[in-house]
Amino acid sequence: MEMHTTDLASLFEKALKNLPEDNLEEIGIVIKVSDNICKIHGLTNVLLNELVLFEGGNKGIVFQLDEDVVSVFLFFNIIPVRELEAVKRTGSLFKIGLTKNLLGRVINAMGDAIDGLEPLEYEELRSIEATIPGIIERSPVNESLETGILAIDALIPIGKGQRELLIGNRGTGKTSIAIDTILHQKDKNVICIYVAVGLRQANVAHTINLLETKGALPYTIIINAQAGDAVLNQYIAPYVGCTVAEYFRDQGKDVLIVYDDLSNHAVAFREMSLLLRRAPGREAYPGDVFYFHSRLLERAGKLKKGGSITALPIVQIQGDDITSYIPTNLISITDGQIFLNTQLFNQGVFPAVDTELSVSRVGRAAQTNAIKKMTKALKLELAQYHDLAAFAQFGTELDEISRRQLARGKIIIELLKQPEHSTYSFVENTLQLFLLKENFLDSVLPKHVSEFALQFISYVQSVYKTVYDNIYQTADISPEIYKRLTEIAQEFTKLFVSNSN
Ligand SMILES: Nc1ncnc2c1ncn2[C@@H]1O[C@H](COP(=O)(O)OP(=O)(O)O)[C@@H](O)[C@H]1O
Ligand SMILES: [Mg+2]
Repeated sequence: MEMHTTDLASLFEKALKNLPEDNLEEIGIVIKVSDNICKIHGLTNVLLNELVLFEGGNKGIVFQLDEDVVSVFLFFNIIPVRELEAVKRTGSLFKIGLTKNLLGRVINAMGDAIDGLEPLEYEELRSIEATIPGIIERSPVNESLETGILAIDALIPIGKGQRELLIGNRGTGKTSIAIDTILHQKDKNVICIYVAVGLRQANVAHTINLLETKGALPYTIIINAQAGDAVLNQYIAPYVGCTVAEYFRDQGKDVLIVYDDLSNHAVAFREMSLLLRRAPGREAYPGDVFYFHSRLLERAGKLKKGGSITALPIVQIQGDDITSYIPTNLISITDGQIFLNTQLFNQGVFPAVDTELSVSRVGRAAQTNAIKKMTKALKLELAQYHDLAAFAQFGTELDEISRRQLARGKIIIELLKQPEHSTYSFVENTLQLFLLKENFLDSVLPKHVSEFALQFISYVQSVYKTVYDNIYQTADISPEIYKRLTEIAQEFTKLFVSNSN
């Protein structure tokens, strides 16, 4: 008689299959703990990115599945994890809670409120990794997102759905530009999200305070994974912020999200990869660091059915070097960059936007017509000025035309100077640029340029309100209005007296 061993085996298999496996709570034990990471044995069926709960109260996310151990990163570095501690599966990927009531709140990377106000009640839970909208679903970027900063709105315009990188050394005003842009969205029906990654607590507190006193909190959400938090928080914070942005975008809203900054984010990711013993590549970053930023920034964009996410990622560099690994990656992923120059900053040119190295690849498609008409020659004039200024340094004799170009450049630079936290509407920008274009500033002393422009704005606003309103309502300048403005400016030039005289 023959024996059918195979039948026996398949019988066993069948029997095993019918076990009520799903109902068995899977428990593993910690076999090795170190800072931020631990290894767990026994969680055989656990999924990648699953949330797991520790007996002692800590939580973690599964990042690597090996043959009999899994590696988990921990959320809290203040809750100790012991060897042999029990760990429970949740059967669910890490998700965050979402609700409209997030507006005006400060949350941590787990989505929990950390502002001491009432706890949040969520309408839905979402995984922090989302499918990226395809090309068919997207609409071209053609609507302006004003920053209120003249240099940017005139020369490097940003559109809704665009990704524009803010890049510069430490202390060159990157955060200031991002925060001013958020402040400027007041009453513009744009929801703002500020993701703070690895920043000092005092800096974040200062930012929150500023948003509150300027009345920006009601339309803003802050996600804070500060420098002292476990590295996992810093790693997931941008994805959490983006998920919150998508929640509002899916309701047809325009959202602006600031990632401050992705250098810290990359460093957190590098630390995690090294702890997982993944092979280090250039600057010790793992090979997939490009993918890890591109998959975040690809989630921004404008949708045909309505709703957009505009992303302002920030990256910090050293020694004005934009060619190191993370900055070059980000430059290639985004639709342009605003480069803040230390030298300009030290010369007192605020904001220190380097107009030569900054670019917006979406460009003028996203610019309001009124401003577009005023800025045709501006970039060229500035470029000519920079060439000449370098040349004039050597004490070279200049001809009349060059001297005029040089004087003109100085006036443009003066006009583009702007104090912190005071942003201009597009009408105000248009009026200032009009003065420049029609050479009304050429006879003004450089130190009076800003004052002249600002007084002109109030003059038009108070004496010729219909002209002002017409530009505002049409977002354009008709030939008649252009003519009117010329007359008004002539009249104003005669009246102008500087207060500082
Ligand atoms: N337009 C501006 N006018 C005056 N001071 C500014 C301006 N922008 C930034 N600053 C100042 O420069 C400093 C550095 O700015 P910050 O935005 O924190 O730089 P970063 O984020 O690049 O490190 C801050 O003290 C800020 O107040
Ligand atoms: Mg900063």
